[in-house]
Amino acid sequence: MNLFDVYPIFNIEPVSAKGCYFWDRSGDKYLDFYGGHAVISIGHSHPHYVKRIADQLEKLGFYSNSVINPLQQQLAEKLGALSGYPEYNLFLVNSGAEANENALKLASFITGKKGVIAFNKAFHGRTAAAVAVTDNARIRAAINPSDHVAFLSFEDLDAVEAVLRKDETCAVIIEGVQGIAGINTPSKSFLQGLRKLCTRYGAKLILDEIQSGYGRTGRFFAHQYAEIAADIITMAKGMGNGFPLGGLLIEPTVEAHYGMLGTTFGGSHLACSAGLAVLEVLEQENLVDNARVQGERLSHQLTGIDEIKEIKGTGLMLGIKFDFDVKPLRQHLLLKEKIFVGSASDPNILRLLPPLGIKDQHIDQFISGLTNSLKNEKLLIH
Ligand SMILES: Cc1ncc(COP(=O)(O)O)c(C=O)c1O
Repeated sequence: MNLFDVYPIFNIEPVSAKGCYFWDRSGDKYLDFYGGHAVISIGHSHPHYVKRIADQLEKLGFYSNSVINPLQQQLAEKLGALSGYPEYNLFLVNSGAEANENALKLASFITGKKGVIAFNKAFHGRTAAAVAVTDNARIRAAINPSDHVAFLSFEDLDAVEAVLRKDETCAVIIEGVQGIAGINTPSKSFLQGLRKLCTRYGAKLILDEIQSGYGRTGRFFAHQYAEIAADIITMAKGMGNGFPLGGLLIEPTVEAHYGMLGTTFGGSHLACSAGLAVLEVLEQENLVDNARVQGERLSHQLTGIDEIKEIKGTGLMLGIKFDFDVKPLRQHLLLKEKIFVGSASDPNILRLLPPLGIKDQHIDQFISGLTNSLKNEKLLIH
């Protein structure tokens, strides 16, 4: 049997990892400024994380959601305390798309409506409701209708209000910071305006913090810079540091009833142990503050590089914009400098999503590697 060939891959095979580095089969060491697509939050193979998962596996790896699992409550309490949403309720799932799928479904259950407002260039996942609110027709199949979705521009509150006035909208969904699009941050006033409009017209404000959450931008959730509270917040990626774990925070007036939402694997003993370990390390090692401080340092150092046209984003969710296609630059960084960075749907942007615990030496290594790669004039294809 062969694999269904849907992923273009780099010709490297990581076999072990620690902190901000991984090693390939031939023993080469790579600096990881990609984090397996924003997933590695507390660093690779963190000893506390490894031990907590291993200890739990020795005892009980999985039982279904039809029995008492105190780890779920422990995770909810710790997450409530660290995220600034202690009074919200938690529903645990396995991935980002599943989190958004349930968030949209919940908004529709609560309001009885089906219209959704999403934004240009948004990415919310590949399953039915999530892909319908994703602004990429190429990954939408005939079975994923989007005729109930209005894709609007960031900052256009008048357009949002015009749609909400029709009284057909169950939810407004927005990324805390657009990731795949190339690190686009909605302004504070725009998010505050969305909050007010959703309250006025009875639509649920869903903040997709799947990529931008869990400390990545230097706040627990990126939208907290705008000093607003969302009705539903979706999370995944950094939440499990590689263990498949996602979730929804749901505002407390939303009443649950049995069977309203459900999942077989979500919230398993192992997943909760991974999630608790992540939160414990985030807290003990002050990683949210570290993301802010080191993000500022990294951005500051990047401003000294002439070829860079714009530095986008906050904390350790950064986009570096050039005036050329960065594909060869990314290849050079990976193959020659042994530094893994991300791309974006904007071909001129390199996306940086390193583990949240990076230190000065990692930034120095990155800056020196980037400078070396940029010196290779063959890369600068205009
Ligand atoms: C903002 C955002 N939402 C949702 C998703 C989908 O998450 P998953 O791939 O875990 O389904 C992603 C994945 O990249 C994402 O970046």
